[in-house]
Amino acid sequence: MHVTEAIKGRYSVRGFKPEPVPEDTIREVIEIARLAPSNSNTQPWHLAVVSGKARRKLQDAIFEEINSGTKPYPAFPPGGAGLKGVYKERQYACAYSYYGTMGIERDDKKARAELLMKNWEFFGAPHAGFLSMPETMNRANAIDLGIFLQSIMLLFAERGVSCCPQGALASYPGPVRKIASVPEGNAILCGLSFGYEDVGAQINDVRMVREPLETVASFTS
Ligand SMILES: Cc1cc2nc3c(=O)[nH]c(=O)nc-3n(C[C@H](O)[C@H](O)[C@H](O)COP(=O)(O)O)c2cc1C
Repeated sequence: MHVTEAIKGRYSVRGFKPEPVPEDTIREVIEIARLAPSNSNTQPWHLAVVSGKARRKLQDAIFEEINSGTKPYPAFPPGGAGLKGVYKERQYACAYSYYGTMGIERDDKKARAELLMKNWEFFGAPHAGFLSMPETMNRANAIDLGIFLQSIMLLFAERGVSCCPQGALASYPGPVRKIASVPEGNAILCGLSFGYEDVGAQINDVRMVREPLETVASFTS
């Protein structure tokens, strides 16, 4: 598979088959993704992968927090917070495209909330990864994690494994820190649910649009 094909073919999957991805495949992907570039070669990324019984335990522990009324407490301000102007519009368009695919009306708050909760069920994926960097680092260092994350997603795409990157998985770091092996002093930026796509699941029909080239780049000579 060429890089172009992997980038064009990738999309976020939110409905998975229960079959786990072989551990060798997961390790191989991370082994290659660690070759990603980073500022001064600092390689500030860490991915804590949770599978099997630990994954179930983690899901239950997160829901225990949610059901006890705990509000999200991410270490870093979430990407979706405080958006303005065109970015707010795109956030709405993304949400409505998602709800539209699921047949959820804009004012159906209950159905929207139920869909949101699926984030912490890892959308049924057999694996959840938690991407972290030292909590003292700045937003410029987060670029490195983004490159690492996209590398992982493309390498998985090449191997027929689907992913959903999730800022939502940074919302309740307490249970993650207890159950997953997140390095001391690191803070979670986002998560990544992954596994084999449940082809035909309605939730996987959503396709997000993109801005044209003229909007995302400028050329001066
Ligand atoms: C950093 C990051 C955080 C995201 N957080 C979530 C999330 O919490 N829940 C979710 O369902 N999708 C999440 N997404 C997926 C985006 O909604 C998706 O990438 C975007 O709409 C483009 O769609 P595509 O990935 O299918 O091309 C996130 C993506 C990124 C890169």
